[in-house]
Amino acid sequence: MSAEPRHFLEIGDVSEDELLTILERAEEYKAAQHAGEDHEDLDGQTLGMIFQKPSTRTRVSFETGMTQLGGHAVFLGEDDIQLGRGEPLKDTSRTLSRYVDAVMARVFKHENIEVFAEYADVPVVNGLTDDAHPCQTLADLLTIREQEGGFEGVSAAWIGDGNNVAQSFVLGCALTDIDLTVATPEGYGIDDRVLERARELGGDPTVTHDPDEAAAGADVIYTDVWISMGQEDERDVRMQAFEGFQVCADLLERAPEASVMHCLPAHRGEEITDDVIESDRSVVFDQAENRLHAQKALLSWLLE
Ligand code: CP
Ligand code: NVA
Repeated sequence: MSAEPRHFLEIGDVSEDELLTILERAEEYKAAQHAGEDHEDLDGQTLGMIFQKPSTRTRVSFETGMTQLGGHAVFLGEDDIQLGRGEPLKDTSRTLSRYVDAVMARVFKHENIEVFAEYADVPVVNGLTDDAHPCQTLADLLTIREQEGGFEGVSAAWIGDGNNVAQSFVLGCALTDIDLTVATPEGYGIDDRVLERARELGGDPTVTHDPDEAAAGADVIYTDVWISMGQEDERDVRMQAFEGFQVCADLLERAPEASVMHCLPAHRGEEITDDVIESDRSVVFDQAENRLHAQKALLSWLLE
């Protein structure tokens, strides 16, 4: 491995061309897997997977993806390794770099994954931080491409919390020229630095506090939980703040053609209703499947 590996901590860590290359490769892997064709491009390689928060999709899609690519993944729950007993991230990073070919990490503070990457001699992939979830965005963009046949002329509405998933989606839309409107309650918006980065990447997201305005005529409506991992103590105040931001049948009347997206897990009856997530407008399980294909493409691209 070279002294300066390529990391994927945020969507803006790849250019528009690189992003399209990864999405095209993801489509090839998806087709190969569905056809039962071998695609063992990471034969003999190992991915370390650090988790400081729970996960279903990220854990299983990365582990399964490595198996399908002919490699291997090692699950490293925080309490199973010395990190949980206070070993510094920078020591964990340098140690793992001597064993594995790449690391995927899900941590709380975004700065922690930056420190981990700074000390790593192998590529580090962000599997979610408090501020970003770029692997989710790869799968989201793959899903939008499948649904809409491309990105040109596509309009999307983010309704709800300006959280980690939202912030990476904002950057993903900027890179792909998706026309994005973000509707959040006051005080729960996208961080100004992320909006500024989106503009640097060529985007121009519209920001509003009106979900109806955001949804009007959109091709894609996307939401996520109102209470993210680590925010459980804020439950009462958040439930009040997000009143009126539920993705429900009434809201969808504003966007009769829209696909409905959610990164999952969903809290039915809070940010989205059961009837909407179970409806034929919902593409949430395509998104979940696409995590597998997009991450396989990302890993093989980072490791080639
Ligand atoms: N969407 C997502 O990252 O799900 P998990 O928390 O189950 O990994
Ligand atoms: N915003 C959610 C996403 C979970 C995949 C959280 O951080 O808990």
